[in-house]
Amino acid sequence: MKRIITLLFLFFFIVGCRGWRSEKPPVHLNPNLDFQASIKAQEDPLLSPDHIIPWGMESDFSDLENRDAIIKQKNKPFYLGKNRSGEWVETVPVDVTHAVLKRGQERYDIYCSMCHGKDGSGNGIVMEYGWFKPKPYWDDAIVSYKDGELFDIISNGIRTMPSYSQQIKESDRWAIVTYIRALQVSNKMKIQDVPADYKEKLKSL
Ligand code: HEC
Repeated sequence: MKRIITLLFLFFFIVGCRGWRSEKPPVHLNPNLDFQASIKAQEDPLLSPDHIIPWGMESDFSDLENRDAIIKQKNKPFYLGKNRSGEWVETVPVDVTHAVLKRGQERYDIYCSMCHGKDGSGNGIVMEYGWFKPKPYWDDAIVSYKDGELFDIISNGIRTMPSYSQQIKESDRWAIVTYIRALQVSNKMKIQDVPADYKEKLKSL
C-alpha cells in the first residue's frame, strides 16, 4: 500500500505540480491542439469551403433572405462574378455550350438590344429618342473587361445604365456575357479570318 501511495505521489509530482519556476516549456503528456499551426491574432479567418454552412449560422438559413445572402457569399464566382479573394473572375464560371450562347443571344435581344443594338454597336432604337449612347462592345476598354466585370455591369448597372438583376437570373446573365464575347469577336474579325463558305454568304448579303 505504501508503495502505491509513494508511486502515486511521485506520478502526480512529476506530471502535475512542479513547484518551481522554469523557462523551459512544461512537460506536456497530453498536448491536445497546443502545437497546431493556429491562426494569428488579427488575421483573417480561413475561408470555409463552398457549399458549407458555417457553424452557428444554421438558424439564419431558415430565413430566406439571409439564406440568399449566405449562398451568394459562398458561391461568389457565380453570384457576384468575383473569386474568393474578391477579384473579378477572368472567365464565365459556367460551361460554354452552343445552347448557352443561343440563350445569351435570345436574352440579349430581349433585354439589351434596344439600347446596344443587335450587333452591340450601341445604335439601338432607344438612341433615336435621345438616350445616352453606349460605346460599341468592341471598344478596347470593354474588350479588356474581365467576364466577372461584364456580369457585374448587368447585375448592378454602370453610370447611366440601369441594373438588370431583377429581370435576368444569374445563369442568363452569364449566357449574355458569353454572347457579348461572341459579338466582340465577330465585329473585330477581319474578312480574311472568316471561313470560306461563310465568306460567300457574307458577300451575298
Ligand atoms: C436603357 C438602355 C440600356 C439597356 C437596356 C442596356 N444598357 Fe448597357 N449601357 C447603356 C448605356 C447608356 C451605357 C453607357 C453608360 C455610361 O457610360 O454612362 C451602357 C454601357 C454598357 C456596357 C459598357 C460599360 C462601360 O464601361 O462603358 C456594357 C458591357 C453594357 N452596357 C452591357 C449591357 C447588357 C449586357 C445589357 C442587357 C442585359 C444592357 N447593357 C442593357 C444603356 C443600356
